[in-house]
Amino acid sequence: MKASLLIWCTLSILLVIPTSASITHLWPMLSSREITVIVNRTADVDLAIFGIADSALNITFTEQHENLIELSSSKIQIPAKNQTIDAHYLISVKGINPGLLDVIISTEPISKNFRNVFLKVTVALSPVILHLSMVLGWLYFVAWSASFYPQIIDNFQRKSVVGLNFDYLSFNIVGSALYTAFNMGLLWCPLIENEYFRRYPRGLNPVLINDVLFSLHALIATLFTAIQCIVYEKAMQRVSNIARAILLLFFLIVSSLLVLALYNVMHWLDFLYYCSYIKLTITLIKYIPQAVMNYRRKSTVGWSIGCIFLDIIGGIFSILQMLLNAHNHDDWVSIFGDPTKFGLGLFSICFDIFFIIQHYVFYRVPTPKLRENDSNLDRLLTDKA
Ligand SMILES: *[C@@H]1O[C@H](CO)[C@@H](O)[C@H](O)[C@H]1NC(C)=O
Ligand SMILES: *[C@@H]1O[C@H](CO)[C@@H](O)[C@H](O)[C@H]1NC(C)=O
Ligand SMILES: *[C@@H]1O[C@H](CO)[C@@H](O)[C@H](O)[C@H]1NC(C)=O
Repeated sequence: MKASLLIWCTLSILLVIPTSASITHLWPMLSSREITVIVNRTADVDLAIFGIADSALNITFTEQHENLIELSSSKIQIPAKNQTIDAHYLISVKGINPGLLDVIISTEPISKNFRNVFLKVTVALSPVILHLSMVLGWLYFVAWSASFYPQIIDNFQRKSVVGLNFDYLSFNIVGSALYTAFNMGLLWCPLIENEYFRRYPRGLNPVLINDVLFSLHALIATLFTAIQCIVYEKAMQRVSNIARAILLLFFLIVSSLLVLALYNVMHWLDFLYYCSYIKLTITLIKYIPQAVMNYRRKSTVGWSIGCIFLDIIGGIFSILQMLLNAHNHDDWVSIFGDPTKFGLGLFSICFDIFFIIQHYVFYRVPTPKLRENDSNLDRLLTDKA
């Protein structure tokens, strides 16, 4: 065991020394790290190289997947010139077959300035599907963002939150807070972002500014709903003991992980990952208390069906986009290889359908008593429980 470690160390030192010995003062810059090209069409990427070419440098482009693209050139030679250069090379990428691939850019002699230069290429079958997918992306973003408002408007008009389950709301607040923390940390904290790229050298940051805006907006909207719950009539509704226990458990987990991260036992990136797992757990359980409450009350009055419609529209568009992309990029692995997004989307849609059935079939005609004075009935029910 020790001997092999020694050999490994010696080997890596031997491999490292010649690399660090050959230093070139040249820096590369790609106009984009990620491009999409349509089959039978080309897209151009600009590779700028600047600095001093104090030794000759050969730059090679290596496709990580065969038969997907054709590059206009796979090698660039830079002769040694002891003067500042600022050269631009146009690389044309032609789509051959749909798929996803990385193009690695390597140099000879090896230069560490080029170590993290790569190009992620998506070859799409159809430009129409490509645009459709983009439109779907915006539509589900809008639908999900808007889905918080029907409940807020409902509460405002009724001046009451009777019928909105407080467990559901508190799960939603905690879920959006954790999701916001995850997005902000990964997008705006250099320490965490660097750790991400250290682990996934050819990855792209999975968080976009849209995600931050979406989660922050969700947090504000749910907090606003919580304020409505304090202000408006609530008829003895409260967060149930079960939900309190679950939230306490989450709180204990997050705070112990926070301590581990603060004392450098755990990396902040892992801390954020654990936060996102708790968020996923919350997504799985948050609808249950509302469904049970509707069942107990035999009514969905006070629980906005508009939210559910926007949620289901968002969910369907999101899944549709995943399927279209999988077809267009001939990439079914990302859907079925990592089922979280797809599975959660389907799960939410199932719950939405269940709520729609509760609203329009099971408890379609609220009894007059409920409509007039549902708070009294609620008091009765809570007393009984
Ligand atoms: C691409 O061009 C080839 C040859 O011209 C043709 O056979 C193929 O159908 C084209 N593919 C698409 C998706 O347009
Ligand atoms: C670059 O490639 C050319 C031709 O393949 C070769 O003659 C030359 O020695 C290479 N230069 C370096 C610095 O490797
Ligand atoms: C560039 O300058 C360095 C030192 O200043 C020298 O060793 C090298 O030979 C020069 N190269 C050329 C191509 O002039």
